[in-house]
Amino acid sequence: MFPLDFPLNILKRRAQVGDVVLDPFCGRGTTNFAARLVGLRSLGVDSSPVAAAITAAKLATTTVDDILAEARRILTEREARQIPASEFWQWAFHPTVLDALCRFREAFLEDCTTDARIALRGIILGALHGPKQKTLPSYFSNQCPRTYAPKPAYATRFWQERRLLPEAVDILAVIERRAKRYYGISSNVTGAVRLADSREPTALQPETPEVRFDWVITSPPYYGMRTYIPDQWLRNWFVGGPDAVDYTNRNQVVHSSPEDFAADLRQVWRNAKNVCAEDAKMVIRFGGITDRRADPLSIIKDSLRESGWRIQTIKEAGSATMGKRQADAFLRYKTTPMTEYDVWARRQ
Ligand SMILES: C[S@@+](CC[C@H](N)C(=O)[O-])C[C@H]1O[C@@H](n2cnc3c(N)ncnc32)[C@H](O)[C@@H]1O
Repeated sequence: MFPLDFPLNILKRRAQVGDVVLDPFCGRGTTNFAARLVGLRSLGVDSSPVAAAITAAKLATTTVDDILAEARRILTEREARQIPASEFWQWAFHPTVLDALCRFREAFLEDCTTDARIALRGIILGALHGPKQKTLPSYFSNQCPRTYAPKPAYATRFWQERRLLPEAVDILAVIERRAKRYYGISSNVTGAVRLADSREPTALQPETPEVRFDWVITSPPYYGMRTYIPDQWLRNWFVGGPDAVDYTNRNQVVHSSPEDFAADLRQVWRNAKNVCAEDAKMVIRFGGITDRRADPLSIIKDSLRESGWRIQTIKEAGSATMGKRQADAFLRYKTTPMTEYDVWARRQ
């Protein structure tokens, strides 16, 4: 995830009234949310169902009261039909919490079309797992990392050895606190999100055919960072995936070699060019571990070759993000330092 300030500062300083913004790797919808904050329409595309659901929640227009009413209705009117029962699940969530999560999950799988439901689903995804708080609970799970889902065998051992039992968290109270934080103010301008593989020719088509995008602000997966789907397996379960780690990496750009990876990105840049205005600008934040065979700068330059975009400037990304976010995930496995670049390009 890149920080909100990154797309926000670009759009505040450079965008014109009426510009339309595209993010072909929208992740949690940071670019779309920034566009909304400055009153611009946007489209976010991502092949991960979790990413698409979180982005949709950032674009929902609803109120705290509507979100809470929807949550109460689901909890009182439904029974959970399928509750995962393996040891991991018994340690990860208190039985009453897991039962409630399953009611929500099944309700959303049946119908998640109203803004209140879309917002509620996003709130629950954000609260699904995380550390235990000293004060009021913010997460539903037993002690967990906030950003990625732990592997079941490791997590179960961790909880058992420390005798950490899952708490009977007050679900509605957690939802209310989060709803107040995110939905206290609402903007009339919104945007759209699409669950799609951005390499596909039609994935980036605007919702209205005559619209052309003026800005592409994005951050593709960093080369070698191939664990988005397995790292999000619990959230992926909540949006309809299996109740065990999903290693398939379906519809994600390939990491088999720097060349294959650059070719996949090039396809996305070409698709973006086809839906952009003549003077559109693209800003890409990209990085990776610096390695002789896979230098991030060479990969991103290679991806832009014959893509319909001309590189204008390349800057090292600000120190505020250095070593954080994607880098954090990397550093769980490797100790090589991470460099991030901002590449500015213009449509040719
Ligand atoms: C670095 S993350 C984007 C983070 C985003 N900037 C944010 O702030 O949350 C890269 C995203 O690319 C998505 N992705 C990977 N391959 C894709 C593909 N072929 N089509 C669409 N999205 C893809 C991943 O699911 C992931 O969400």
